[in-house]
Amino acid sequence: MHWTKCIPRTILSCALGLFSGAVALAAGGQNLPAHQTPQPSHEASAASERNWWKNAVIYEIYPRSFQDSNGDGIGDLNGITQRLDYLKDLGVDAIWLTPCYPSPQVDFGYDISDYKNIDPRYGTLKDFDRLVAEAGKRHIRVIMDMVMNHTSDKHEWFMQSRSSRGNPYRDWYMWHDGKGETATDKGAPPNNWQSYFGHSAWQWDSGTRQYYYHKFYIQQPDLNWDNPKVHEAFKDIIGFWLKRGVGGFRFDAITNLFEDPKLADEGIVKNKNGNPVINAYGDPQLDDSKTNNLPGVHPVMQEMRAHVDTFSSDKFPGTRVLIGETYMENIAELARMYGPADKPEFHLPMDTQVAFINKLDVAVFRARLTGVETQIGDNTPLLLFDNHDNPRLDARYGDGVHDTDIQRAIATVLFASRGAALFYYGDEIGMKTTPPTRKEDVKDPIGVTGWPREKGRDGERTPMQWDGGANAGFSKATPWLPVPPSAATINVEAEKSDPNSLLAWYRSLIRLKKTNPAFTHGENTMLDTGNMKVLSWLRQAAGAPAVVVAVNFTAEPQTVNLTASGAGLQAAHVKTLLKTPGAADPVSLHRVALGPYGIYIGEVR
Ligand code: GLC
Repeated sequence: MHWTKCIPRTILSCALGLFSGAVALAAGGQNLPAHQTPQPSHEASAASERNWWKNAVIYEIYPRSFQDSNGDGIGDLNGITQRLDYLKDLGVDAIWLTPCYPSPQVDFGYDISDYKNIDPRYGTLKDFDRLVAEAGKRHIRVIMDMVMNHTSDKHEWFMQSRSSRGNPYRDWYMWHDGKGETATDKGAPPNNWQSYFGHSAWQWDSGTRQYYYHKFYIQQPDLNWDNPKVHEAFKDIIGFWLKRGVGGFRFDAITNLFEDPKLADEGIVKNKNGNPVINAYGDPQLDDSKTNNLPGVHPVMQEMRAHVDTFSSDKFPGTRVLIGETYMENIAELARMYGPADKPEFHLPMDTQVAFINKLDVAVFRARLTGVETQIGDNTPLLLFDNHDNPRLDARYGDGVHDTDIQRAIATVLFASRGAALFYYGDEIGMKTTPPTRKEDVKDPIGVTGWPREKGRDGERTPMQWDGGANAGFSKATPWLPVPPSAATINVEAEKSDPNSLLAWYRSLIRLKKTNPAFTHGENTMLDTGNMKVLSWLRQAAGAPAVVVAVNFTAEPQTVNLTASGAGLQAAHVKTLLKTPGAADPVSLHRVALGPYGIYIGEVR
C-alpha cells in the first residue's frame, strides 16, 4: 500500500504501555475547565469565513467506530450528531468523515457503489443533512472523503463497463489485454504492477476476456482519468455535496489517478545487499514509479479546485477546502500539491513528511518543520500525526513508559506550530493501537492477506472510548471491532474532569491556538537550533506578545537557553501559558527547565 512507502507498518515495534503523568495547566486562563474558558469566537466577517481553514483544527472521524445510535454495533451519522457538543467543546472547526456512501464495505467504505447517497448502515441523506445543520450551528464544518481513483466493482459504472467491450462505460476503467493471450488462454497480466493490498494489480475478467487494473482491492477497479466523462461525473458529484453544505473534501489516493500509458514494468526495490525487498504479502516491493505521482494529477486538481471555487456559500458561508491524501517523497513534491498561484490545487495537502517521522528525533523534526515553514511559499501547512491507515501514536512514537507525555509532546508540535492541524478520533484521550491477536478475528482484508506481518488496520479503528462502562459507551450491541481493555481507564468520561489528563492538554492547546494572537496568525521560527534534545520555537505576531514553545524529546531532564539563537530574543521574562507539572516557572528565557518529555509554553514579556 502506498503508505508503506513512508511508513513501514510491518516493521514497527508496537511499544505499548501507559504512564499517566500529571499535568499542570498553568496561569493565563488556560487552566480552567473548558466551559469556563473564553470560547473561540466565530467571526462572521467575510475575511474570517474565507480564511477559516488557515488555522483550522480538523478532526478525523471513522464513522463506523465513533458512536452507534441504533444498537447495531456500527457507528452512524446520528451517533456523530449526538456527539457534536463534545467536539465543539474540544474546539474543532471541521470534522472529516471517512466515506459513508453506499458501499459493499470491502474496504469499509472506500469501495463506493453510489456517490450520491448514504449507506443505510450509517443512516440516510436526511440524517446527513441534519448532521451538517447541527454541526453548522456549532460552527463545525463537515468535510467528506472523495474517492476518485476507483469505485466499487458493484458501482453501476463498473457493472456496465464489464458487461461488454462495446459498452459506453468500457473506457471509464483501465482494461488491457493479457500478455500472450490467445482464444483459449488469458495470458499473463499486462505488466508487473502490484496492488498496494498485495499481489498483481490486474484482475482477469472472464466475461470480456481482458484484465482490469486495481491499485487497491480487486473490488476497487481504477477509473480511467484520461476519459473526460470521468472528470464530468466527479464534478457533478462534488457539486451534489457542496450544495448540501459540506465544508470541503479530502481527496483519497489522489496521487494514484494516473498510470504510465506505456504500461512499463515498475522497478524492484533492493535492500543494501542487492536482494529484492519482500513485502508483507510475499511480493517483491516495487518502486511505485509508473503508478504513483504522475504529472497528470496536477491538471485534474486545478480543474477540481476551480470547480469547487465556483460554489458560492449561500448555505454555509466560507471557503470550501480541498485536503489531499498526499504521501509525498519530499517537501518540493508536497509544495507542488498546492499548485501554481494562478492555478491553485489543494488548500491543504497533508504533510505526511512530518506526520510519519515515527521517531522523536529533534533534528529531523526541526528540518521538516522548517521545510514546510519556508518552502511552500504563502501556502498553509496541514500538520497531522495520525489517521485510520496507520498504527496510532502510542505504537509509532511511544516508549511504553512515557506514552502520555510523548502524546502531549506530539500534540504540542501539532497545535502550537503554524497552520491547520488535523487529528484522529481518540488521539485526544490517548487511545492505544489494539490489533487483533488471531487471524480469524481480522476484519480489514489486508490483515488476512498479510498475516502475521501485516495485521491490517483494525488496531487503529477500534470504537471510540466514551466511558468505562459496557462497550465504552460506543454501542448497546457488540461493537464491530472489540473495545480495547485499556478503555477502562482511557476514556472521555474519566479524562474530562481531570485537569491533568491528555484530553485537558488537547483542549488547552486548541484554545491557545484559537485565541492567542501569536498562535492564531503568528510567524513560526525555530530557536536554539543546535540543540538535539529539545525542540524549541517562537511564534510572533505584530502587536502581540511573542510566545516560546519548548518540547523535551528525551526521557531525561533538560535545561534550555531560549536566547541562544534566533529572532533577537533578549533575556526577557516569560509568563507561563501551559506547562507539564513539576517544573518551576522559569525566571527568564536563559534557563527553562524541562522534565522528561516536558513542555513549556510561555509569553515573552
Ligand atoms: C486511502 C484510504 C485507505 C483506503 C485507500 C483506498 O489510502 O485512506 O483507507 O484503503 O485509500 O481507497
